[in-house]
Amino acid sequence: MTKGLTGMVAIVTGAGKGIGEAIARRLASEGAQVMVADLDAANAENVAASIRAEGLSAVSHQIDVSSPSQVSEMARRAEEELGKIDILVNNAGILGPAASVQDLPVEDWNRILNINLTGTFLCCQAVIKGMVERGYGRIVNMASVAGKEGNLYQAGYSASKAGVMGLTKTMGKEVAKTGVTVNCIAPALIDSDLIKEMTDSHLNTLLDKIPMGRVGKPEEIGALVSFLVTEATFCTGACFDISGGRATY
Ligand SMILES: NC(=O)c1ccc[n+]([C@@H]2O[C@H](COP(=O)([O-])OP(=O)(O)OC[C@H]3O[C@@H](n4cnc5c(N)ncnc54)[C@H](O)[C@@H]3O)[C@@H](O)[C@H]2O)c1
Repeated sequence: MTKGLTGMVAIVTGAGKGIGEAIARRLASEGAQVMVADLDAANAENVAASIRAEGLSAVSHQIDVSSPSQVSEMARRAEEELGKIDILVNNAGILGPAASVQDLPVEDWNRILNINLTGTFLCCQAVIKGMVERGYGRIVNMASVAGKEGNLYQAGYSASKAGVMGLTKTMGKEVAKTGVTVNCIAPALIDSDLIKEMTDSHLNTLLDKIPMGRVGKPEEIGALVSFLVTEATFCTGACFDISGGRATY
């Protein structure tokens, strides 16, 4: 049986571990050729190699998504070596230190915004022309429920994710008639190394907000991304919650 993403090329950023790895594995399992892009070259290659070991298709690529030249180079390589870019999942992101606005150094604020928001913008900008010219594309940006609610002591992170939602909504409208869809997803707590950076009390506060009473699994994010790049043909400029019931708006 032909798989749904056979013949498609997907770039997943931050795919060396965690949620991005699960997304890359899911898209590869559905037949896509996946570029596993990450700051950590060794992790990216480990993920790509283990996807290839299953008889599926993946290459790794080292990138810092906050660098305009590195983003251009990633898109150029994907177009040249894999032929085109059908799917972009902007997943790379950092949490940054827990600090009140009063105490957060501007260097940390800038670093979080540069990676989470500007990195997403740069990657979108690098692929959109080719997608529009070909009349097809699927972009999924990683926001967070933090961008809707404003998590305590995570102003940079929360602002960056609110920005991702705004970028997604604008871009979705800009290209709505071109065959390209642009959506974002807003997870609550998902089991990954990122949440291990939180203190136990912070983690428990966030867990208490989830009616299902558990953290989500990276594979559950992979399933939502799969839906958005395959079946969700009438969805664009939208934000999809995946929060065990936490986000209800
Ligand atoms: N885990 C959660 O609870 C949760 C909730 C909501 C949203 N998210 C978002 O999901 C995404 C993935 O998070 P995760 O939990 O898997 O985190 P993680 O820390 O496990 O993985 C993040 C990956 O991104 C890579 N990365 C970091 N900076 C990069 C850069 N400048 N360029 C390229 N790659 C870079 C890291 O090397 C790492 O492989 C992030 O955008 C995060 O904000 C996570």
